[in-house]
Amino acid sequence: MLYKKTYENSTEKFKKMADKVQTDPMLLKYHIYPEAGWLNDPNGLCQFKGNFHIYFQYSPLDENRKEIIWGHVSSPDFIHFKRDNPFLYADSPLDKDGAYSGSAFIKDDEINYFYTGNVKYDGDFDYINDGREHNTIKVKSRDAVNYDEKELILTNSDYPLDITKHVRDPKIYEKNGIYYMFLGARSKEDKGMVLVFKSADLENFTYHMRIESNDKFGYMWECPDFFELNGKDLLIVCPQGLQKEDYKYQNIYQAGYFPIEIDLENKEYRLGKFKELDYGFDFYAPQTFQDESDRRILLGWMGMPDAEYTNPTTKYKWQHCLTIPRELTYINGKICQRPIKELKKLRQENEYLPRGEKLEISVFEALCSKIASEFKVKLRGDVTLTYNNQTLILNMGESSWGRKIRQVRIEEIENIRIFSDKSSLEIFINDGSYTLSTRVYSKNMNFSSDDLDFEVYRLNPIKFM
Ligand code: FRU
Repeated sequence: MLYKKTYENSTEKFKKMADKVQTDPMLLKYHIYPEAGWLNDPNGLCQFKGNFHIYFQYSPLDENRKEIIWGHVSSPDFIHFKRDNPFLYADSPLDKDGAYSGSAFIKDDEINYFYTGNVKYDGDFDYINDGREHNTIKVKSRDAVNYDEKELILTNSDYPLDITKHVRDPKIYEKNGIYYMFLGARSKEDKGMVLVFKSADLENFTYHMRIESNDKFGYMWECPDFFELNGKDLLIVCPQGLQKEDYKYQNIYQAGYFPIEIDLENKEYRLGKFKELDYGFDFYAPQTFQDESDRRILLGWMGMPDAEYTNPTTKYKWQHCLTIPRELTYINGKICQRPIKELKKLRQENEYLPRGEKLEISVFEALCSKIASEFKVKLRGDVTLTYNNQTLILNMGESSWGRKIRQVRIEEIENIRIFSDKSSLEIFINDGSYTLSTRVYSKNMNFSSDDLDFEVYRLNPIKFM
């Protein structure tokens, strides 16, 4: 349990940790990271009365994942941010072992949040079929900061009988006045799937249908997200348990999407082919929301659960961050991710970096749209991005805590856009139709290419007010 009181009584400890965070030379300049402690999934993303609200899985008193609650930052413009107090604590019998991931749905001037209350029993259990609860809980807020009570909406006995205790990460989609709740699930036969519940009032939900692949595709699907984009219905999920294939599914867990043809009312659907959303080392549990100007914006966790490496930032009492916000479009059968236009406001004067020359920089954006058929870019230290034989290779050299290479097949590269922060890289290829996101910890910062000319912008930091 992590009560508000316990957190508030730990101010001194927290402050000490937060001061230590600020001494980290690898601390990020324009990404959202925890003020202290651990961060994972983005949660409850929304724009409410003009303000953007970003909540996240948060363990503020421990840099390693421990007692999970919801942290909160807000922003009018994605440039100026406020660190709000934690939003949800793990303080009720319904969520005593973690206020797990969830989402926000705005209706009638109110934000309805749905999340998973994790409960673990003491004893000798496998914690899959027995020994835990995953409760779907709702809270309502009129200011994105305070909420009334925690209301139990669904509990394990409401989920179908062939499903394990693992049912979590609710996301709401509305169609024709009906509210559909998408939940990630693991069946007793260890098959990942999505359960869909239905409601007319956002209060009473009944089981409606499930969405699964014909053949088993992983044992669990986490963090589902369903939305329409440029006329196409899409289902994002994070499958666990896929086998590595050449160029595919290189991380321990995946984040991707199925194009889907679906008639929700009549429970009919056909899943298209699963595509990964990112090809770097650190991208998981993305969540999207529609903002007030109707953009579909995605933020992901730039981290990976159960990863084999330890993040060197733990020494400085923090771990992990979110990706930069990305606007989504669906073009030629693919989701494209482009950094939101607000980020252009971080740009300083532009500089021209001709091939063969190098810049000692770490916090920058670099663009190139005259691409050679083969190239090599030195991103920093011994981290390189090379392209040949229609394969793009991110090679981390020795600088990345045991992580070596990631590669993706790309027929033709038309443009590259790189966002580099003190300890992260986000690479966007062909207007965001391929992305590679990764944390990186090189001391030696220099950016150059023997084959490509870049337009480079040093970036100002985002401001925490
Ligand atoms: C994904 C996830 C979610 C869960 C949360 C707990 O990273 O495992 O399924 O709700 O993290 O922190």
